[in-house]
Amino acid sequence: MLTTIVVAASENNVIGIDNELPWHLPDDLKFFKQKTLEKPVLMGRKTFESLGRPLPKRLNIVLSRSNVALPEGVLLYGSLIEALNFLKTASTPEVCIIGGGIVFAEALPIVQQIFLTRVHTQVEGGTAFFPELPVNEWELIWEEHHAQDEKHAFDFTFQQYKRKA
Ligand SMILES: NC(=O)c1ccc[n+]([C@@H]2O[C@H](COP(=O)([O-])OP(=O)(O)OC[C@H]3O[C@@H](n4cnc5c(N)ncnc54)[C@H](OP(=O)(O)O)[C@@H]3O)[C@@H](O)[C@H]2O)c1
Repeated sequence: MLTTIVVAASENNVIGIDNELPWHLPDDLKFFKQKTLEKPVLMGRKTFESLGRPLPKRLNIVLSRSNVALPEGVLLYGSLIEALNFLKTASTPEVCIIGGGIVFAEALPIVQQIFLTRVHTQVEGGTAFFPELPVNEWELIWEEHHAQDEKHAFDFTFQQYKRKA
């Protein structure tokens, strides 16, 4: 099973402030949708709360150590390994791990692919972070730059990384 992280992070690795995204970047939301549609999305309880509803057309899996109430159809697992084992048993071709910071930190050592939107700004007051990528472990295989415009307050670059063999 291919394990993929999909994340947007500032130059100083901020991904969230007070359980919200630090920016509104419509083209990044489209990119996120394109990369995750029809695939299972695995996330921490706080990220699910910040979304406020299940992502449509995707199996939503939430991690929590408590027995939180979730909408019908959303799966709850008490550990990352349990959730991944369930998906492997179901012969899932790919899972997208979509945050937040706590889940990314645990998943980074075991994923094979990362779609990182690098948002070209320094964010102050961040409360959730993407871990520093160990450069010797990851190869940048594709990137595409997007300039700031009337709908996007910052420049950003879509990047695809593969774990080095
Ligand atoms: N920029 C991006 O790409 C992006 C993506 C996603 C989220 N975000 C932002 O990130 C922030 C949320 O991230 P966060 O780090 O605060 O929280 P999080 O990772 O979304 O959720 C943390 C919670 O998930 C549960 N959890 C995590 N790992 C677990 C494990 N191995 N086993 C069982 N449960 C586990 C725990 O829930 P319990 O406390 O219930 O046990 C933990 O408190 C928000 O600001 C959000 O907007 C940004």
